[in-house]
Amino acid sequence: MLFFIDTANLDHIREAAELGILDGVTTNPSLMAKEGISGEKNILKHYRTICEIVGDGRDVSAEVISTDFKGMVAEGKKLAEIHPNIVVKVPMIKDGVKALAHFSEIGIKTNCTLVFSAGQAILAAKAGATYLSPFIGRVDDINWDGIALIREINRIYEIQGYETAILAASIRTPLHIVQSAKAGADVVTCPLSAIMGLFNHPLTDIGLEKRSEERRVGKECLRL
Ligand code: G3P
Repeated sequence: MLFFIDTANLDHIREAAELGILDGVTTNPSLMAKEGISGEKNILKHYRTICEIVGDGRDVSAEVISTDFKGMVAEGKKLAEIHPNIVVKVPMIKDGVKALAHFSEIGIKTNCTLVFSAGQAILAAKAGATYLSPFIGRVDDINWDGIALIREINRIYEIQGYETAILAASIRTPLHIVQSAKAGADVVTCPLSAIMGLFNHPLTDIGLEKRSEERRVGKECLRL
C-alpha cells in the first residue's frame, strides 16, 4: 500500500518525505487556502514546489475547480504541464466522468474525488481513472461505514479486473490507515498526524525507558 500525505503544508510534506515512506501527495483547494495560497500563479508555483520536494516518480494530485467539461479539461491540461508528477483530480459528477475518460485517452493521470458509493467507483473505473478517492472519514461522519465501502469497492474491482487504484481518503486516524490496508486499499492519503500516530505504542516507550535505565545501571557497575 502506498502512503500519500493529504496536505499543502510544505513542512509537513518535508517531514513525511524525510521519514523515507512517502509515495505522493494529495491536495485540494481548501488545503491550499489553509496555507494562504491563492491566485492561479501562486497555486501553480506551489504545486511545482511540492513536486520538487517529493522527487520524481511520486504522484501529486492537483484538483480542478471548474465543474463543466471544457473548464475541467482546460484546467487539467494546465496542471499536467506543471510537472510529470501531477495527477489531475476531478470530482465525481457527470462532466467529471467525461473529463476522466478524455484525460485517460490523452494519457493524463487522474484521481476521481468525492466518491461515496460503489456505483460511483464503477463509473470512475469505466472512465479509466488512475486513482479513485472514497472519503472514508466523511462516510463515518454520517454514521455509515467508510471502511466497508473500501472493502466493497475492492471486491468489485477484483471481480471485474478494473485497474483503477483505490486511494482511501478523508483519513482521520492511524486506525483508519490500518483498516484501509486490511480492506485492500492500494493507497492511503492522510494528514501527518495520522501517519505519526502509527508510531505510538506504550510498550515501545516502556521498552526504551527500560533500555536506558539498564544502560545507566550498566555504566554505574563499570565505574565500581
Ligand atoms: O482527502 C480528502 C480530504 O482532504 C478530506 O478530508 O477530513 O475534510 O473529510 P476531510
